[in-house]
Amino acid sequence: MSEAVLDIQSLRKTVHKGKNIVEDVSFKMHKGEILGLLGPNGAGKTTTIRMIVGLIKRSSGSVSINGTDMDEDSQTCKRQIGAIVENPAFYDYMSGWKNLQQHARMAIDPVSDERMQDIIKLVQLEDAIHDKVKKYSLGMKQRLGVAQALLHQPSILILDEPTNGLDPKGIRELRDYLRELADQGISTLVSSHLLSEMQLMCDRVVIMEKGRLIDETVIGELDQSDEQKVCIVAFQCRVDQIQEAKALIEADSEIELLHIEKEQTLVLKLHEATIPDVNKKFVEAGIDIYAIERKKTTLEEKFLSLTNTRNMTDIKEVQS
Ligand SMILES: Nc1ncnc2c1ncn2[C@@H]1O[C@H](COP(=O)(O)OP(=O)(O)OP(=O)(O)O)[C@@H](O)[C@H]1O
Ligand SMILES: [Mg+2]
Repeated sequence: MSEAVLDIQSLRKTVHKGKNIVEDVSFKMHKGEILGLLGPNGAGKTTTIRMIVGLIKRSSGSVSINGTDMDEDSQTCKRQIGAIVENPAFYDYMSGWKNLQQHARMAIDPVSDERMQDIIKLVQLEDAIHDKVKKYSLGMKQRLGVAQALLHQPSILILDEPTNGLDPKGIRELRDYLRELADQGISTLVSSHLLSEMQLMCDRVVIMEKGRLIDETVIGELDQSDEQKVCIVAFQCRVDQIQEAKALIEADSEIELLHIEKEQTLVLKLHEATIPDVNKKFVEAGIDIYAIERKKTTLEEKFLSLTNTRNMTDIKEVQS
């Protein structure tokens, strides 16, 4: 893997009464990578992003951009980042073009008209760029925000929940242009609490919960079939045998019981190769198995196996 364009080490944010809302968060992002920061509401995603872009102070830890430590040369680091953390502010009575020009004037390096045209094309705002921003839809404003963040040619783009409020078409388009940027070597860190989106959008995700990183996953590896692969399988038995089945599983250190569904289905995390053995074990103990369902090893399943069920319920509610 190429060298890290963004290297976060042991990031911590302590608020009043010594409470850590972000603790020991470390990860790296590589050139041309789309990295997801996934976690339920309140996990600490925005706080982490705010610390990276310097909107709030870190309590401890380091941020380095393309090998430069933020504390040593924050100016150089910040020039390499384009970000949308809060909703970008625009002058509503001005056109998108004028807004971009206004923003370009504040950039340290001059931004050519040609550069502006290229970015506008990339975010597909060509047709509306001379309309007043007050006429823009949420999705269009969001694109203008990305265009604004890209004006000074950053090598890293950071977007906090960029799909909020976008319709499926808008989400797909965002995905497409982030991929185009990735092909040009620009890396994007994107946060979300929506698992399915992250799966489609990112090359890799880091998962946060309660202020900490709890896992890191390469998206492509989620669907690989492999003898050693850990997967999630639901075994449905008779309601009156569920406790017996549960005890059997709990006695086996190789299998993890994730939860029980509808009082008669054990959802287990185990090695794929052991599925027939587990079934045999149930049968030998006189437990009737009515169905075995191999749950797809999606990010959602992985997330479920790592975090508690309450958070998953929250996420599903948000998704539906
Ligand atoms: N200044 C602060 N003082 C105290 N607590 C804070 C402060 N800022 C954030 N928090 C708390 O820290 C936790 C993490 O917040 P944060 O906004 O980073 O989460 P998030 O992952 O971005 O959540 P969401 O998905 O809702 O945007 C939350 O419980 C929040 O209430
Ligand atoms: Mg947030």
